[in-house]
Amino acid sequence: MTGDTADTTGELGDEHLTMGIDPYERNWMRASVALLVVFFATVSIAGFAAGFQVNGEDEEVDPRTVLDSEPWSNPGLRQIGEGRYEAYVVAKTWAFEPRELEVPVGSEVTIYVTSPDVQHGLKITDTNVNVMVVPGQVSKLEFTFDEVGEFPYICHEYCGRGHVAMWGVVNVVSESSGEVTS
Ligand code: CUA
Repeated sequence: MTGDTADTTGELGDEHLTMGIDPYERNWMRASVALLVVFFATVSIAGFAAGFQVNGEDEEVDPRTVLDSEPWSNPGLRQIGEGRYEAYVVAKTWAFEPRELEVPVGSEVTIYVTSPDVQHGLKITDTNVNVMVVPGQVSKLEFTFDEVGEFPYICHEYCGRGHVAMWGVVNVVSESSGEVTS
């Protein structure tokens, strides 16, 4: 049988097939199904165990009037406790308001972001803060800034001509006085 591999391959007859499916193809089908199971599990765990859900009605706003009243009429950072802050960020064509957030290192920040016009995105570099900003909805997430430095944030949903210029920066400083010391 040595030196006869071409023939051997040719001899792979129907007895190697399950329901007429080639073993090679069958393995790919198994891998595809396994991947679907993994995806389904991932989405289920995120949705039901980790609580990632579409916003409820209490987080809905009217995009036409949202900027007329507090807190959205005055976006920015508010201290709500020791080392705890809330940041209200407006994402609009084509800028973030505010353009800069300064927080002391170690701060736990709850970020609320909404849009009065079109869909935007908010991604803070080198963090896992990454959210879509949909008009009529308030996106909320929490992050603890444990590292001193500048963390630029960008819009990552294409929103028109000025999309590329839509960015800001989180300044994480080492003193609660807000002054950077080195
Ligand atoms: Cu806002 Cu892209």
